[in-house]
Amino acid sequence: MSEALIAVFPGDGIGPEVTAQARAVLERCGERFGFPLRFEEAVLGGVAIDATGEPLPQASLDLARQADAVLLGAVGGPKWDDPQSKVRPEQALLALRRELELFANLRPIQIHPRVVDAAPLKREVLEGVDILFVRELTGGVYFGQPSERRQGAAGREAVDTVVYDETEVRRVVDLSFSIARGRRKRVTQVDKANILATSRLWREVTREVAADYSDVAVEDVLVDAMAMHLLRRPADFDVVVTENMFGDILTDEASVLTGSLGMLPSASLGSAENSFAHRAGLYEPIHGSAPDIAGRDLANPLGSIMSAAMLLRHSLGREEAASAVEAAVNAVLDDGLRTADLNQPDTRQVGCAEMGAAVVEKL
Ligand code: IPM
Ligand code: MG
Repeated sequence: MSEALIAVFPGDGIGPEVTAQARAVLERCGERFGFPLRFEEAVLGGVAIDATGEPLPQASLDLARQADAVLLGAVGGPKWDDPQSKVRPEQALLALRRELELFANLRPIQIHPRVVDAAPLKREVLEGVDILFVRELTGGVYFGQPSERRQGAAGREAVDTVVYDETEVRRVVDLSFSIARGRRKRVTQVDKANILATSRLWREVTREVAADYSDVAVEDVLVDAMAMHLLRRPADFDVVVTENMFGDILTDEASVLTGSLGMLPSASLGSAENSFAHRAGLYEPIHGSAPDIAGRDLANPLGSIMSAAMLLRHSLGREEAASAVEAAVNAVLDDGLRTADLNQPDTRQVGCAEMGAAVVEKL
């Protein structure tokens, strides 16, 4: 059996703390299920700027390219926030997504029954919520050119560009339909087609792709309406596919449904010849670097640990281990353990390290 190489980029803020727990979970899975894993760590983001002057040093990019999967913590922090600065930690993330062509960002929104009371919405609204967001990750306004500040006739002006070609749209929409087939067979395409030309292209291409999936229901929803539906009737959605920036915004909103941003994993995938599994990918929690709680053993490692489960599933094809990790997380929550973000009067607060150890213990 060949050894899988996992590149680990702990990054900034709480990144190192949560990533250490996810790595321990992966190591445990390797032992228990008998597959060899090799880990290599490298710098990325603010720590990389400090060490090398660049947010994504060549050595880190090379490591990511060689790896079977990348486990990432978080990037950014006040230390590197100067808006005038030419280098910013976030550039590392964008460059990595782009360089590895990770065009599909999977962000599952599931609600653990024991955590539902920590969410600000009513229990009835949250019952049965199981959404998979597929956010396009390598196009749109994040990468469109020109993107600059300049001197205009009326003074300072700035421009950003939203651009998509049909290939970029088709591959992510097609992946969404193929995933929907294995779920509840519904795809919701979110856009702003009443205003944006790019959105009208998304609609057109979505219709073309849908023709190949007659067993999957499809609808188009405007992004402003979707923002509302997510809070009023979230259980109605199955797979939601959308462009880069709408996906960024809607997934932060959707995270509120689960009670804590700290619980949510993500997988960023590139193309695979014919199957959904076994593709190189980047796995990271949705939460950011949370500098206010960094280094204090307060972070919730479950988003990172659930990301490790996605890594096992999508990049290593280890479904059994992936399900075991998810079951272990549920078991720990059932035992009443909670990090500070989710603690309630009837649960027991634990730190990041203890939460990680509890998951490993269940495995
Ligand atoms: C995310 C983050 C990033 C994004 C930032 C950190 C660049 O918000 O992954 O959702 O906007 O894509
Ligand atoms: Mg975001």
